[in-house]
Amino acid sequence: MTPHDRWLLRTDTTTYAVTLGPDGRWAELAAWGPHGAEAGPSPMDRSRRTHFLTPADAAPAEYIPYGLRPFTGADLIAQHPGGERGSWWRFTGAAPDGDRALRLDFTDDVLGLRTTLCYETVPGTDVVLRWTELTCTGESELRLERFDSAAVNVPVQAGARLTYLAGQWSQEFQLRHMELARGRFEMESTQGSAGHAYAPWLAIQDSAAPTEGATPTYGIALEWSGNWRITADAEPGGSVRIRAGRVPHEGAVRLAPGTTLTTPRLACAFSPDGLDGLARVWHRYERRLTGARMDRPRKVLYNSWEATGFDVDAAGQLELAKTAAELGAELFVVDDGWFTGRHDDTGGLGDWEPDPAGFPGGLDHFIDQVRALGMDFGLWVEPEAVSPRSRLHAEHPEWAYRIDGRPVTLVRNQLLLDLGRPDVQDFVIGTLDRLLSSHAISYLKWDMNRPPTERGRPGHPAGTDPERQDLDAAHVAGYLRVLDHLRSAHPHVTVEGCAGGGARIEHATLARTDVVWPSDNTAPMDRLRIQYGYLHAHAPHTMSSWVTDAPGIFDPRPRSLAFRFVGSLAGVLGIGADIRDWTPDQRAEAAGWIARYKDVRDVVHHGEVHLLGSPDDPTCGIQYEEPGGHRLVVTAWNTGPLDGAPLVPGAAARLRLRGLDPGAAYTDQDSGTRYSGAYLLHSGLPFAWTAAHDAELVVLARE
Ligand code: GLA
Repeated sequence: MTPHDRWLLRTDTTTYAVTLGPDGRWAELAAWGPHGAEAGPSPMDRSRRTHFLTPADAAPAEYIPYGLRPFTGADLIAQHPGGERGSWWRFTGAAPDGDRALRLDFTDDVLGLRTTLCYETVPGTDVVLRWTELTCTGESELRLERFDSAAVNVPVQAGARLTYLAGQWSQEFQLRHMELARGRFEMESTQGSAGHAYAPWLAIQDSAAPTEGATPTYGIALEWSGNWRITADAEPGGSVRIRAGRVPHEGAVRLAPGTTLTTPRLACAFSPDGLDGLARVWHRYERRLTGARMDRPRKVLYNSWEATGFDVDAAGQLELAKTAAELGAELFVVDDGWFTGRHDDTGGLGDWEPDPAGFPGGLDHFIDQVRALGMDFGLWVEPEAVSPRSRLHAEHPEWAYRIDGRPVTLVRNQLLLDLGRPDVQDFVIGTLDRLLSSHAISYLKWDMNRPPTERGRPGHPAGTDPERQDLDAAHVAGYLRVLDHLRSAHPHVTVEGCAGGGARIEHATLARTDVVWPSDNTAPMDRLRIQYGYLHAHAPHTMSSWVTDAPGIFDPRPRSLAFRFVGSLAGVLGIGADIRDWTPDQRAEAAGWIARYKDVRDVVHHGEVHLLGSPDDPTCGIQYEEPGGHRLVVTAWNTGPLDGAPLVPGAAARLRLRGLDPGAAYTDQDSGTRYSGAYLLHSGLPFAWTAAHDAELVVLARE
């Protein structure tokens, strides 16, 4: 292989081209864009004149160690413990598999380190997966202080605009933009999960280009359920370089001779069609993550958490269940509070026995009653959590994270089990097996309500436990092992992922769950904004959403029942309101919405999405196009002022639809109004909002 050879990776519509740098010591990005974008000189090629820098510092390197790249940001920092910090390697071979996969090897004989850059395309998508394998080939162990999954160079032309998802508990997935003219932008989580503060996801565009329309848009997403960091650097040459990877809890990991560390995968996506187009790339990718489970219809759920909190008793739950069944719910989930010692958030976690006081006839009797109503039954669990007063904690105090000689911090009055320990994994698997095989449970909501603090293993002072080197990765491996076990041993059980709302949403979790809970905030306007951000990164079939009683936690603005239903059926519809108090009219309306949802959920979950405007606009919506294109579903909300309507003369609000065939005809299935595709693209679908009419679900049938 000469330094000027190139390797091409081809996805459905894009090409990712890799070459070796001029002196052959590192790999560089040569092109990334639509098919054909590689035919011509590399847009990444710069003058290569470097004053006060090394050539590697200005190179669009795919992955490069500190040592070779001393100043502008390296992806790998390796050394012998106590030795010189840095690696200087040489290219030692390429193993392409056609244009669908590639492995590039780099070797540092002095350190005894082989680094393999791995690439794989995902059929049917525009995603290239990248990760790195680090092998200790020498006789002494290595210390890895930084070991990103990949670096991604984005060929922006005049500075980058970064789009990211930021927030906090109850305000997850807020879409934010920033210009990166100079310097560095960094997001991370050290909470042992993706975290509420940032999603491990980033989109990159030219700063001068509009966010939507025909704008080349690049994106990355890290598949990792633990600590992570994403760094974006404005490069000396004018492009932007993103690094993404794990953050070890201990500050570094040890790599023993003969062992290989495989980093998490970084999914790299491209769309020529702005953030909206990039969202469709991610949706397509996520629809493939769970294989055949994607085809299961997501059942309409009722969850009693917001209605009853910790006051769970069979009589109250049954009353809710009867009403839920009348409305058309297909699944009844009892949330927190069903087990012994769980009267509030100070006790019970770890002792997973149904509370006989709450279920005097036994849990099975209650489940039978729910099933007799025609609904499946589901249960909430928080398998990694333990209450200090629980029997589990009394029997196994060493299972919770703790540092000998240090006080423990309680978060939500609870501790966290060290799921990296095989005995804790076995306990969790045993507990879930027992629950799922002794009761007719079809749905499990897996929650996690606190991050790890004082992360240590009691009885194993630092340095004495070989497993201790990488507690975060061990916890993630345990978490994924249990989720994988659930899927293989209990394939009929639908799994919902949750962590105090949306703190654990990334591709490793999404590949092993059926739905996730994006936020505890169910207030209609707040929720719309959360879901708007969420849908830029994640697919509607993963987005669990409940209709609850207004006002919500932080958002007291009144909205109609229709607004709340249309908001929730934009993903996976559930009900969380205290429906015992709903009037007959409200119940009838709810039943109507649920029936309509059942009719269109296939289109919502499998369709191609266009995000029409944003909640900052007076009207916004989402368009879902059935694969094959027969039905078109549009959800729409009035999010702004009414401007005097309907008292003053004025026009209806409109949403211009996208991607339709202008020559086709579409009929509104409710009103019978007939539109041409050209009309819907050019003039838009009209909405005559009033104070009482603030949301709509429109189903258009293509003739
Ligand atoms: C977390 C979840 C909620 C609910 C409560 C129960 O906050 O996000 O949906 O399950 O725990 O304690």
